[in-house]
Amino acid sequence: MSKTRLGIMASGGGSNADAILQSCADGKLNATGAVIISNNKDAGVHNVAKKHNVPSYHISRDMFRDGRQFADKLINIFREHQVDLILLAGYMRKLPPALIRSWRNAVLNIHPALLPAHGGKGMYGIRVHEDVLAKGDKETGVTIHFVDEEYDRGPILHQVGGVPVYPNDTPEKIAARVLEVEHRAYCEAVQIWMDKHN
Ligand code: GAR
Repeated sequence: MSKTRLGIMASGGGSNADAILQSCADGKLNATGAVIISNNKDAGVHNVAKKHNVPSYHISRDMFRDGRQFADKLINIFREHQVDLILLAGYMRKLPPALIRSWRNAVLNIHPALLPAHGGKGMYGIRVHEDVLAKGDKETGVTIHFVDEEYDRGPILHQVGGVPVYPNDTPEKIAARVLEVEHRAYCEAVQIWMDKHN
């Protein structure tokens, strides 16, 4: 069976992108990195792209006159690279609706908590773990869900809980503990998606 072609969008360091591309390189996932897009020019994910020989682009909304042109650019790049599945891996912006429509049921996002808790507008990165701590949760985890037009609201594809939160924890310590689980969980989610769609 032909390999699933992945388009990855990331804003930061790209450790999730790295884990997924490594899993492809190791032959654990029957998939390949087709292209990476970041809204930040200096994001670490561009180095991850180089390491895995995947082309990467810096494309952000403010480079375009309107949202439609931005969407068209993203759609064209993903089409050009024949992307089957788009993975948001620490992408901190809302996606243009036209892109979501063009890859319906084929855009996934990873969220570093157990949705529907600790999700929604403004709930990303370290803020998620601050909220987990503030609410006194005893455990946290990871959610991979389909992306639709609402923040963190699309159907859940895969969820892994059981990450402990300790009384003397800090948001940074929780983030590191969750991130390790993310790397495994995102690869599992890609496999689950491929089992359903191939
Ligand atoms: C990850 O923890 C991811 O779940 C989170 O950003 C981090 C990116 O790390 N995403 C969100 O908060 C999106 N709402 P990475 O760049 O090392 O993969």
